[in-house]
Amino acid sequence: MLDVKKIRKDFPMFTHPDRSNLVFLDNASTTFKPQCVIDAINLYYSTYTANSHRGDYDTCFKVDQKVDEVRNKVAKFVNANPNEVVFTSGATMSINLIAYGYAMKYLKAGDEIIIDEAEHASNTLPWFKVAEKTGAVIKFIPLDEKGCITKENLVKTLTNNTKIVALAAVTNVLGNKIDIKEFSKEVHKVGALFALDGAQSVPHSKTDFKDLDVDFLSFSGHKMLGPTGIGCLVAKYDLLDKMDSFLLGGGMNVTFSKDVSVELLNPPTKFEAGTLNIAGIIGLGAAIDYLNAIGLDNIEAHEKELKRYAIEKLSKLDDIEIYNKDSEAGIVTFNRKGIFSQDEATLLNYRKVAVRSGQHCAKMLNDYLGCAATLRASFYLYTSKEDIDYLYDVLKEKGDILDAYFN
Ligand code: ALA
Repeated sequence: MLDVKKIRKDFPMFTHPDRSNLVFLDNASTTFKPQCVIDAINLYYSTYTANSHRGDYDTCFKVDQKVDEVRNKVAKFVNANPNEVVFTSGATMSINLIAYGYAMKYLKAGDEIIIDEAEHASNTLPWFKVAEKTGAVIKFIPLDEKGCITKENLVKTLTNNTKIVALAAVTNVLGNKIDIKEFSKEVHKVGALFALDGAQSVPHSKTDFKDLDVDFLSFSGHKMLGPTGIGCLVAKYDLLDKMDSFLLGGGMNVTFSKDVSVELLNPPTKFEAGTLNIAGIIGLGAAIDYLNAIGLDNIEAHEKELKRYAIEKLSKLDDIEIYNKDSEAGIVTFNRKGIFSQDEATLLNYRKVAVRSGQHCAKMLNDYLGCAATLRASFYLYTSKEDIDYLYDVLKEKGDILDAYFN
């Protein structure tokens, strides 16, 4: 297990007096930031503010260097080439970039886009829009009894008309994983492209873009200790080269003229119109340094043990129904029998436990779950077994929901 006490000293949210008793179990939604990330952002704003790739003076050169440095860092973090890393505002924008930049351009009526019911809205709605605009068809891979996608079900759903398969590496409600490398092989056999949503996987375990052989990889900075508003689309360079730019503006063109001709820069720059989220990029770089220092393998092992421990403990409570006992990720999705999840979350909040309740943006999963909403506790490198013990104690005590609403 990681030394959580030591790690927490790096996070002001844990040392702030107003938050000292908070048990934060909502890391699949967003994560706390270590001081080094906050300092890196502060340093940019207080000592070397300038735009990137636009000025011919020293502070600008320093910013240019920083942005390039972080692009290299991201590339190394996921084993891609730096020119395959596009800075976006987060996983949602990254997936929209694939949809608008690639799919809108190349898909036609009758082509198939494959997703599944466990996908987050960000990996569903852009594809619905592509289908609406191009006449492409959305197909769903059936989930098995554990809410997982098996290779067998993937293969059954693929056809020669499949053009894009868009799946989460780890689903955000059930925390189910897929065998990415095996899936890539199958997707490529029918000549389709594989768009992997790494929002819930890249922060928690090592990702090797080249080895996995996916075509697109999306993720967000704020779920991996970085700031909000920054994320990445990593894509094979030849795909980036043939995609349309989703946003147009300054910084991404070579020239344009009154005859309405435009020449764009090469990827990844042609996708980065307007001033970049420079502070976000710098913060993301600091977050990657922090994660590397702890070690992704150590983080993965820590969360795996927390998950095992949480399932063992919460299973002792007869009135708690757990929906994902067997999934590997550090996510536990549950309900108290007969209690609406938001009421239970309010009660937990009253006892200083932060979990997410509702549909978690995965609104097609209700049929599989057989309920309208759930509670979700999700872990990260600073989560301790004591946090889980406390969650267990509070759930065991039950408490009166009216206390939570009226106190
Ligand atoms: N995608 C985030 C979640 O699952 C917001 O909670």
